[in-house]
Amino acid sequence: MGFDNRADLASGHGHTVCVTGASGFIASWLVKLLLEKGYTVRGTVRNPDDAAKNAHLKSLDGAAERLTLLRADLLDKESLTAAFRGCEGIFHTASPVTDDPEKMIEPAVNGTQNVINAAADVGSVRRVVFTSSIGAAYMDPRHGPDAEVDETCWSDLDYCKNTKNWYCYAKTVAEQAAWELAKQQRVDLVVVNPSLVLGPLLQQSINASTWHVLKYLDGSVQTYADAAQAYVHVRDVADAHARVYEEPGASGRYLCAGRTLHRGEVCRILAKMFPEYPVPNECKGGAGETNKGCRFSSRRLNELGVGVTPASLCLYDTVSSLQDKGLLPRRTAAVVDPSVIP
Ligand SMILES: NC(=O)c1ccc[n+]([C@@H]2O[C@H](COP(=O)([O-])OP(=O)(O)OC[C@H]3O[C@@H](n4cnc5c(N)ncnc54)[C@H](OP(=O)(O)O)[C@@H]3O)[C@@H](O)[C@H]2O)c1
Repeated sequence: MGFDNRADLASGHGHTVCVTGASGFIASWLVKLLLEKGYTVRGTVRNPDDAAKNAHLKSLDGAAERLTLLRADLLDKESLTAAFRGCEGIFHTASPVTDDPEKMIEPAVNGTQNVINAAADVGSVRRVVFTSSIGAAYMDPRHGPDAEVDETCWSDLDYCKNTKNWYCYAKTVAEQAAWELAKQQRVDLVVVNPSLVLGPLLQQSINASTWHVLKYLDGSVQTYADAAQAYVHVRDVADAHARVYEEPGASGRYLCAGRTLHRGEVCRILAKMFPEYPVPNECKGGAGETNKGCRFSSRRLNELGVGVTPASLCLYDTVSSLQDKGLLPRRTAAVVDPSVIP
C-alpha cells in the first residue's frame, strides 16, 4: 500500500474513496469536500433508507452522479468489506461520541480494527485516514498548564479510567489498536486528532460538539465549568483529512486544534456576539477560572497547508447555523462583527 506519485491524486476525478459514518457532523463536510474535489464517494451509514438523516448528503453538489450510500455497521466487518471493495482510500470517521463505556468502547475499538482488516482484505486501498481525537493525546496528569501537547503525547489509560473519561479512553485504545493492526496488515494509516469541532451543521440534528455551544445559549446551563478546551472549525478538519490523504509524504499523527479557551472566555465571546441569549456569566463552584487546559501544536498540519480558523469564527458559524436550522430560536440579529473579537 502507499502512494507512488502525487500527480495521481492532484484531483479526485476517477478515484473512489469511502467515508464511514457519512451522515455525521465531520463526515458530512468531508463528503462535501471530496465531491467538490471530483472524487467518487461511497458513504457508509447505518440506515441508507433514513431519508431525513441522509437528505443533506443527497443534496450535495455532485452527489447525484458520484455519491453512493451503503449500509454498514462498525461491528459487522463484512458490511465494511463490501463497502470498501474497489476503493483507493478509506476515511474512518464513524464512532459513537459519548462517555457511556457500554456504548463507546466496543464500536470505537473493535469497529476500528474491523475497518483496518476490511481495508487490508479488499486489496485496492492505498491509504486509511482515521479520525482519532486530541482525547487520545492530552489526558495525562503529567501535562502541566504550560506544556504543549503534540503528536508524541498519548493519554494515560489508567488516568482516563480513574476519571471515568470513557470517550478519551476508547479513542486512545482505538488509535493504539489501529496503529498496531495497520503495521501487522501493512496498511498505510494516517491519523487526524481534532480538538472540539465547531462550525455549521450540514445535518439536521445536533451532535455532541455543537451541543457544547447550544447549551450556553438556550438556557440549559446557568454557569460554566472551570475548564478549558481547544476548538477547531469543521471545514479545517475536513481539509486536514483530505490533505493527509492526498499528500504522499504524510505519515503518523496530525493534531488539528486551534487556541485553547476557558469556558468563561467562550461565554464572554458568545455574549458579545449574541447578547440576546441568556449566556452564563458565572463560573461553577465560585472558585474562579483556574483551569488553563492544555495548549496544542498543529504545526505538522500547518506545514501541509492546513489553516486554523479563529475560535470566535468557529463559535459564530456554529450559532448562525443553529439559528438557520431552527435548532436555536432566532431572537435578533448578531450585533457584533466576529472578526473584531480576538
Ligand atoms: N466533533 C468533535 O468535536 C470531535 C473531536 C475529535 C474527534 N472527533 C471524532 O470524529 C468522528 C466523527 O465525530 P462527529 O462529531 O462527526 O460525530 P457524529 O456527528 O456523532 O457522527 C458519528 C457518526 O458515527 C456513526 N456511528 C456511530 N456508531 C456506529 C456504528 N456502530 N456503526 C456505524 N456507524 C456508527 C454515526 O452513525 P448514526 O448516525 O447511525 O448514529 C454517525 O454517523 C468520531 O470518530 C469522533 O470521535 C469528533
